[in-house]
Amino acid sequence: MQTDFLVIGSGIAGLTYALKVAQEFPDKKVVVMTKATADETNTKYAQGGIAVVNDLENDSFEKHIEDTLIAGDGLCNEKVVEIVVKEGPDRVNEIIEWGARFDKEKDGDYKLGKEGGHSEYRILHHKDVTGKEMERALIDAVAAQKNIEFIKHCFVIDIITQHHLGYLITKSTPDIECYGVYVLNLETNRIEKIVAKITLLATGGNGQVYRTTTNPSIATGDGVAMVYRAKGRIENMEFIQFHPTALFEPGLKGQAFLITEAVRGDGGILRNKNGEAFMEKYDPRKDLAPRDIVARAIDSEMKKTGTEHVWLDCRHFSKEKFIEHFPNIYEKCLSIGIDITKYMIPVAPAAHYSCGGIKTDEWGRSSVKNLYACGECSSTGLHGANRLASNSLLEAMVFAHRCFIDVKEKVRSVEIKENIPDWNARGTAEPKEMILITQSLKELQLVMSDYVGIVRNDVRLQRAMRRLDLLWEETEQLYQSTSLSTQLMELRNMITVGYLIVKGAAFRKESRGLHFNTDYPGQSELVQNIVL
Ligand code: FAD
Ligand code: SIN
Repeated sequence: MQTDFLVIGSGIAGLTYALKVAQEFPDKKVVVMTKATADETNTKYAQGGIAVVNDLENDSFEKHIEDTLIAGDGLCNEKVVEIVVKEGPDRVNEIIEWGARFDKEKDGDYKLGKEGGHSEYRILHHKDVTGKEMERALIDAVAAQKNIEFIKHCFVIDIITQHHLGYLITKSTPDIECYGVYVLNLETNRIEKIVAKITLLATGGNGQVYRTTTNPSIATGDGVAMVYRAKGRIENMEFIQFHPTALFEPGLKGQAFLITEAVRGDGGILRNKNGEAFMEKYDPRKDLAPRDIVARAIDSEMKKTGTEHVWLDCRHFSKEKFIEHFPNIYEKCLSIGIDITKYMIPVAPAAHYSCGGIKTDEWGRSSVKNLYACGECSSTGLHGANRLASNSLLEAMVFAHRCFIDVKEKVRSVEIKENIPDWNARGTAEPKEMILITQSLKELQLVMSDYVGIVRNDVRLQRAMRRLDLLWEETEQLYQSTSLSTQLMELRNMITVGYLIVKGAAFRKESRGLHFNTDYPGQSELVQNIVL
């Protein structure tokens, strides 16, 4: 298959970009690929909403910029922060025009929520299922756009570069180029090549690298791993954001249900085993301090009291008000026997968001020519060492637009690459034991959770690296000798991502934002991004 525009990923980043390009070039085909169903994305699970300056009487761009910079703890790119905050309102208006609905007051003004680290009420939301509503609107708009071909259940294995034409490529090769991708079609089980002039990676996050995560099973860091293999630049991977309040369900495996920070924005209070509202001991902003601080405080309380969770107290809420804003959370809690008006909700931190990723410039260009990245898989400079709550949906839309602006002209000067070889699967056989893959995945998640979690130190990082080395070696043997499957490719990608997180964490000899190393509790004077 050949196409001018190839988009990998059907979350907010990929679909926003695809719509814009397709509308601009109605005579050209835009191919959108996803490894799962159309809407199985991190986007679909977003709860709290989208941070955007809306109420100019009480809020301002300056305040949103300041809040973002404070959360980012010295590592944000100030120019990018200004771009995202100032261009945000136009992007939000566009998605409203495409059909997304946000909650309104009786007088027609938007209802604005508040989350940790925000100095004002500025979060637009659709009850507690904002992402589901935005994804729905985007999928409907894409379906109405005739020149978008939406291909589901296709797993992108690797981006095609000069390496696949037989050239030796290293990190210092200038002008590495992307010619498209190899994909495993999960319906036919065949490996195909898609040749494209411009490729956009919008492959989302990597929460599945950890044992407990708010992310769905698709979040395996594939885009980051592909770019790293292609010798592109990856940045700031050590900054993994743990959401303070995932619902604690004993024995749960896989995706944890999120209790949005907006619940604390509306007055929810964190309490320890003894019923003490402990956040005031840690930060004057109490329950609404930025996430890194709240997650570390919870981690510390759990360790001190020897419990697996703390409590989120909402018993003082009016039932009607709670259900009006958080109907999904109310139902979920009730389904496991928790009536939030009578009982507190057990919560614990869970891996939630990757602040680092594929390094891009302010137009979403990666270090690989004709390869763009936006959304959670990218590192644009917005989040620095810690993302401000509800800034990621905003970033995805702003950067999808910026990628679109940049490719509009560029596509005219790019040629489709001819003579790309087919995928070489010689010497591989069906895997004999899938258990080898599932067992390695469990080991990886344990290593990352136990040694590279909220609190780190050098010994733990060294242990993690040694164990990842072994997992890598064993998985490479499997990869070289067996036919490809989603499980094997995801495992391989997750080990790469785990390695990048550990490597970034080991390089950073300080504690900053989400990276806390007890061997270096202070901050270094040298403020730097770690690029791998
Ligand atoms: P995603 O929406 O994750 O989409 C990734 C896409 O890439 C999927 O279609 C996937 O199938 C595809 N893909 C991945 N790998 C491959 C491959 N190898 N081959 C083919 N396709 C592939 N942010 C906020 O701003 N506000 C919130 O309120 C908020 N709440 C959140 C709540 C939860 C529970 C979670 C998990 C996240 C939340 N976030 C929130 C973060 C935000 O939702 C995500 O960062 C954002 O939606 C990511 O969008 P994306 O388009 O980059 O990726
Ligand atoms: C939440 O609703 O608490 C998540 C918001 C976010 O991750 O930005």
